[in-house]
Amino acid sequence: MATIQEIADDIKSKKSLSDIDDSFLKARILENIEKYKLDLTEDFKKLKKKNRYGEFFKEIRKILRKVYGVYREIPEPRLESTYKELNKKLGKFNSVLDIGCGKSPLEYIEIFGKDKTYYLCDISKDSVEEINNYMKQNKIKGKTFIFNAYDNHKENLPKADIIFIFRVLESLEEIKKGSSERLFKNLNSKLILVSFSKIALSKNEEIKKKGRSWFRRMLSKNNYTFEDFDIENEIFFLIKPK
Ligand SMILES: C[S@@+](CC[C@H](N)C(=O)[O-])C[C@H]1O[C@@H](n2cnc3c(N)ncnc32)[C@H](O)[C@@H]1O
Repeated sequence: MATIQEIADDIKSKKSLSDIDDSFLKARILENIEKYKLDLTEDFKKLKKKNRYGEFFKEIRKILRKVYGVYREIPEPRLESTYKELNKKLGKFNSVLDIGCGKSPLEYIEIFGKDKTYYLCDISKDSVEEINNYMKQNKIKGKTFIFNAYDNHKENLPKADIIFIFRVLESLEEIKKGSSERLFKNLNSKLILVSFSKIALSKNEEIKKKGRSWFRRMLSKNNYTFEDFDIENEIFFLIKPK
């Protein structure tokens, strides 16, 4: 009998994938087992030889690349001037919740202020660990935690004056359309600042990305008011829930 763990280990058998969150991976495996008609009563060695398994394997790796690979390779450090401009736009605030923060807090805490409270989360253990060390060394208030915004979108999140979601929603939408809206329904804050990268990976994507019309539609549908603006290679949406 093949186990989910055997399949997960097989998919993770690449050094660059060792940071993948196990629960995220297993959830994607379970979703696709039926789609690819994998028979788990078979021995794993037998299952692995099936063409269907090969296709299933490729599909899961593709999802992982989207969440962990491609979208993590884009980030170049933002210019200090970008954060300064955001700081002006945001006005006064005391606390931030950053969803899918990556390593960007290492760049912005100094600029937004070391006296504020930061709740910083990401699905990547590596990023969370690195930020946690920084927070400790610099005695920053708040906490860091691993959070999977796709599967655990209903989880109770710390309350903060502002929520940042920078360059994350696209990868959630890639897994399933509507997952940003699902996440938004659970957010509780006076301000939400979302961003999307304008760097396209292909020509086709460039066109698709232009208006972010799906995101604007989602905001209007849920009665959010928002202002959008471009800084450097990013488009930002400063959103006020009703
Ligand atoms: C392009 S990076 C952006 C990092 C940071 N927000 C920034 O703009 O500099 C995308 C980040 O989202 C995280 N991420 C992807 N899928 C996620 C999920 N389901 N839940 C939480 N974080 C996720 C990745 O680990 C990565 O750190």
